[in-house]
Amino acid sequence: MSRKSIHGEWSNRWIFILAATGSAVGLGNIWKFPYITGEYGGGAFVLVYLLCIAVIGIPIMMSEVLLGRRGKQSPINTMRALAKSEGASRYWQLLGWSGVVAGFLILSYYSVIAGWALAYVLEAASGAFTAQSADNIGHLFSGMLANPWVLLFWHSIFMLLTIVVVARGVRQGLEKAIRFLMPALFVLLILMVGYAMSTGEFMQGVKFLFNPDFSKLSWAGVLTAMGHAFFTLSLGMGAIMIYGSYMPHDASIAKTSILVAVADTLVALLAGLAIFPIVFAYGLEPGAGPSLIFMTLPIAFGQMPGGILFGTLFFVLLVFAAWSSAISLIEPAVAWLVENRNFTRIKAALITGISTWLLGIITVFSFNDWRFSFYFAGEKKTNGMFDVIDILTANIMLPLGGLFIAIFAAWVMRQQTSMDELGMGQGARYQLWKFLVRFVTPVGVTMIFLKAIGVL
Ligand code: TRP
Repeated sequence: MSRKSIHGEWSNRWIFILAATGSAVGLGNIWKFPYITGEYGGGAFVLVYLLCIAVIGIPIMMSEVLLGRRGKQSPINTMRALAKSEGASRYWQLLGWSGVVAGFLILSYYSVIAGWALAYVLEAASGAFTAQSADNIGHLFSGMLANPWVLLFWHSIFMLLTIVVVARGVRQGLEKAIRFLMPALFVLLILMVGYAMSTGEFMQGVKFLFNPDFSKLSWAGVLTAMGHAFFTLSLGMGAIMIYGSYMPHDASIAKTSILVAVADTLVALLAGLAIFPIVFAYGLEPGAGPSLIFMTLPIAFGQMPGGILFGTLFFVLLVFAAWSSAISLIEPAVAWLVENRNFTRIKAALITGISTWLLGIITVFSFNDWRFSFYFAGEKKTNGMFDVIDILTANIMLPLGGLFIAIFAAWVMRQQTSMDELGMGQGARYQLWKFLVRFVTPVGVTMIFLKAIGVL
């Protein structure tokens, strides 16, 4: 009860909401959600994703915040301390370790993609999209992917940005960066949806997103939808746990978690509504993969009045959204180095940042020189190591991490502890949370795993 985080605390609970939203809202919403929705056929995929957010994502987010705020340390040490005080095996700290590994892996490719967005800030500002055909916009993008040095350059810049903010610490670094950016991104997305409405194919986009056709959805798609629910809410690797450890005690965990999840979902749906009408208006391929937003939105910016301004602004905000997510991916590792190795934040940020940068080189080359294809759960994947790392983390490590978080919070931890920390009594709301993390999450995650690998 009396533990205090040595890294500081958010100024108030609004800052926690802002920071958690900053972590949640990122490339996952604007880049990944549309492209995987396109790959897995639209409506039915979206429905499963929404369901996973509601019955798995929100309860797990509450559990992660609860563990973090109770433990007040890096996820590794939090799990060690909680396992001890709850009388459980010390192997629970492995949950913290696997989260650190997942964080490195995710950030390694996340930074490369954020680098694409950085490159596109310049393209947009220079008017490269103005009045270009869909074909030319496509060539612009494939030209960039073909050149590993360009990708490496922007990946380096993005990692540098991330290191700088992480080095400055909780209040000075993380908090200041997120304060203004989230609202601005939201406004710009609404503007883009407004533009999409005026293109004429808006209804086709809406239908694609919201009209479920289950014959198009494979079990690999269901697994991807569930994995994405974890990914987009930053769950399953300790990011939300460590943000929870900086959360003041007077904040309601349930309310803040729901708020963050709703905001995150809204941003993803808005991104879908902005992108698919353009996809259909220009006869593009919804299943184009990771290039989707980079091949669609620039067309819109090239046609609309004020497109140079809006296009530049959009990619700037996308970079910021990615930035505020990136910092949460290495924060658990940084906090651990500060706690256990006595590093300064600067040294810890440098070490984790440089390791991630090195790992990112794999992704840089997976879009050109080292490209290969493979099958995963019956679906063809064409982006080599990038797809391998993405599937390994989002579809396997995060749901597994979430599964063990659920088991710890609902089966291992004493009921008194979770009731204390959640602070909503022992009535219906507490019982609902408990039921969801006790049964729905473990059964749901396990079943979807088994279905996707064809065992069930
Ligand atoms: N949620 C972020 C996004 O959608 C990515 C992210 C940040 C993340 N921190 C995470 C994903 C922790 C998984 C785990 O872009």
